[in-house]
Amino acid sequence: MTPDRYAVIGNPIAHSKSPFIHTLFAEQTGQAMTYERILAPLDGFRETVLRFRAEGGRGMNVTVPFKLEAAELCDRLSGRAARAGAVNTLIFHADGTIEGDNTDGAGLVRDLLGHGVPLEGQRVLILGAGGAVRGVLAPLLAERPAALVIANRTADKAEQLAADFADLGPVHGCGFEALAGPFDLIINGTSASLTGELPPLPDDLLGKGAVAYDMAYGSEPTPFQRWAQAHGARLALDGLGMLVEQAAESFYRWRGVRPDTAPVRQALGASHTA
Ligand code: ATR
Repeated sequence: MTPDRYAVIGNPIAHSKSPFIHTLFAEQTGQAMTYERILAPLDGFRETVLRFRAEGGRGMNVTVPFKLEAAELCDRLSGRAARAGAVNTLIFHADGTIEGDNTDGAGLVRDLLGHGVPLEGQRVLILGAGGAVRGVLAPLLAERPAALVIANRTADKAEQLAADFADLGPVHGCGFEALAGPFDLIINGTSASLTGELPPLPDDLLGKGAVAYDMAYGSEPTPFQRWAQAHGARLALDGLGMLVEQAAESFYRWRGVRPDTAPVRQALGASHTA
């Protein structure tokens, strides 16, 4: 029997760790499948997806910059993908329809809880108000934090985002200058880490025993992780765990089997520093 085909699609895509992760999941769970990288031209996302499906593809992960276009392409969206307005997982159903899901927020929540970081009743701050933050708000609010504050360089965007999710829980938006701590958990969802920058943060944001989480990751701790360590964080995590957990959630949607993420995380050398 030919193995089922899956792929991650993006631009650029050469750096993606998804093929490594899904190949390990498939071996571990005995699923007959392959998983490849596909580079789509910036103006050719739709054609590339439909070609892969026509060639027998069963599903795809979608990464930068196509997550919004992916949502438009789908015949239907899961509730969390509709809320996120973005899709990172495409499921090609046997009846010819394409379903879109978004597993990013579930991946973040699972990684936090897996590190023993509580969310319920906690004061949580999330930095940034772009697509990456929008994608994780609903699953975060579902964990019932005492407060979820969205802070952004452009305050209007944070306020608008908070208004969009206000029906799901106690969420507020503001600019960095209006921030008042302390918080139990600070999540960096800005793209600042990617350029080695750090949002302008007051010194007293982290409460006693607070945790910092950067949704980005790299071979070195990010500027935000270093800031958190210098300001007394109990734990400063990067986003590699979120990457593995969102992959496991996509794998589960496709195959109906939940892989064990611990060995895969170990194989990737997931770093976390106290
Ligand atoms: P993504 O899909 O990664 O969320 P995005 O939608 O372009 O990308 O959003 C990027 C986010 O990072 C925004 O919240 C942006 O702030 P603005 O809305 O004010 O532009 C934030 N960001 C990017 N670089 C930043 C920096 N150097 N300092 C602070 N915030 C930054």
